Amino acid sequence: MTQAVTVWRASALTLFPEMFPGPLGMSLAGKALAAGAWSLDVVDIRGFATDKHRSVDDTPAGGGPGMVMKADVLARAIDATAADTRPRLLMSPRGTPLTQARVAALTAGAGVVLICGRFEGIDERVIAARGLEELSVGDYVLSGGEIAAMALIDACVRLIPGVMGKADSSAEESFAEGLLEYPQYTRPQLFEGRPIPDVLISGDHGKIAAWRRAEAEKLTRERRPDLWAKRRPAP
Ligand SMILES: C[S@@+](CC[C@H](N)C(=O)[O-])C[C@H]1O[C@@H](n2cnc3c(N)ncnc32)[C@H](O)[C@@H]1O
Repeated sequence: MTQAVTVWRASALTLFPEMFPGPLGMSLAGKALAAGAWSLDVVDIRGFATDKHRSVDDTPAGGGPGMVMKADVLARAIDATAADTRPRLLMSPRGTPLTQARVAALTAGAGVVLICGRFEGIDERVIAARGLEELSVGDYVLSGGEIAAMALIDACVRLIPGVMGKADSSAEESFAEGLLEYPQYTRPQLFEGRPIPDVLISGDHGKIAAWRRAEAEKLTRERRPDLWAKRRPAP
């Protein structure tokens, strides 16, 4: 009996479904999507509004600026989409910062259900009622969760086996070993009086690896003392 192949699946719940696939339809992610290496379904939250104005938001309880996305509408959208074991992730500036380790863990699973907030955010009660985990893509505020969701999907999709060619391996990338990546160069040998470092054209692979490691450590120490403090020494 042939078994159905299940591909990594991303579901995005949004008030702006036309924003997808956007950049995810291009380049590496787009080719992989077209080849069926992953799948994307986009759910229009407004489709779950029931009043005649199809309202998805209302004024904040207690007053204040802006609007809040309604719990009942969003809960119906989630219930119609996420009847499986995939993590339900609410894109949120107050969430846990997304890391490469988390991206790798999410890629190893069945996929993700991503909820894109708008306005002042979503009614707190739906977060608890539907077991949403809040994830942030950085300490700044976007106007909506769609770009954050696309960033997460893009980071995951490129780690799906076979999506990146061997030539683009993620093994030596920034964060792979808790370090930033070493500097990269390509031809021409001399650019505006700046040569490629001699070691990189020496052909000595041992020396090249040692130089790259030292540069990666130096950059991490200088630019990201937080990462440097957390890194485990190489075995
Ligand atoms: C204008 S923001 C709401 C900001 C919210 N009032 C606050 O101060 O935390 C609207 C939506 O954008 C998304 N968003 C904004 N910044 C984000 C970030 N750094 N990471 C992930 N999602 C973000 C969230 O889905 C959020 O609900």
